Amino acid sequence: MQIVSGPAALRTPRPRPLVLVPTMGALHEGHLSLIRIARQAAGTHGTVAVSIFVNPIQFDRPGDLAAYPRPLDADLELCRREGVDLVFTPDVDALYHPDRSVTVTESSLSATLCGATRPGHFDGVCTVVLKLFLLFQPDAAVFGEKDYQQLAIIRRMVRDLDVPVEILAGPTLREADGLAMSSRNTRLTPSQRADAPRLRRGLLEASQLPETAAILSRARAEISSPLNRIDYLELVDSETLRPAIDLSRPTVLATAVFYDEVRLIDNLAIPAKGSGAA
Ligand code: PAJ
Repeated sequence: MQIVSGPAALRTPRPRPLVLVPTMGALHEGHLSLIRIARQAAGTHGTVAVSIFVNPIQFDRPGDLAAYPRPLDADLELCRREGVDLVFTPDVDALYHPDRSVTVTESSLSATLCGATRPGHFDGVCTVVLKLFLLFQPDAAVFGEKDYQQLAIIRRMVRDLDVPVEILAGPTLREADGLAMSSRNTRLTPSQRADAPRLRRGLLEASQLPETAAILSRARAEISSPLNRIDYLELVDSETLRPAIDLSRPTVLATAVFYDEVRLIDNLAIPAKGSGAA
């Protein structure tokens, strides 16, 4: 496994296909599942590359950036065990010029959900992901459905800017009690950790109901607890990410919840229901 921290080293030609898994490190089984998808796509002779970079420009709260876990040695060991060929771990200075002034902005899908509550977040994500695509020139890149809006926005960026990278998606991996795996879970206290599976439970229970207002009110009631604060809870059209008017098209029920300073997200796809179903 080769570990590089400077962009110049990425210019060395590598066996194709080259499949990239962009991460911010603190790797868990969810990330590893994407690495396995990357290996499937790359084949034994292709290259699986992982980037580990806590991207400062996508954080809207300085405390969250400072507290973000950075267990680099453990991450490298996990990558080695998964048979990753190339790991890119740049410093902030290696990727960003101090006077940088160009940013990629997606202006439609970012209007709701995390885009509405974390101003500038997806500009930071799009900018770093496009930079990684230009540096690696991968054939494909893998993203998780856990960050549903991020995946949709990256697909849109690639479509609208003719970026020649195939976007692959992996399902959300969960702990045994249903909590979506996240690098932020380790920052929960034991009582918060015990409370947090209500996100998944609430989304699942509410999704059984036949109508949008009922879904939203049931989900809010199930997810709320004295230990948390709901940042958003929305039912959106799965393609436009605009608030869903009814259930005649596929929707996504998505939430972000704070446990003190720790913000967790989860989502659930709901197939079209009723007579208007496609
Ligand atoms: P990070 O949060 O480290 O996530 C890296 C990738 O892992 C993302 O595509 C995310 O959707 C996926 N992932 C996270 N938890 C998962 C889970 N439980 N199951 C399956 N996949 C999961 O997302 C980012 O980093 C950054 O925004 C990044 C794209 C790297 C740009 O900085």
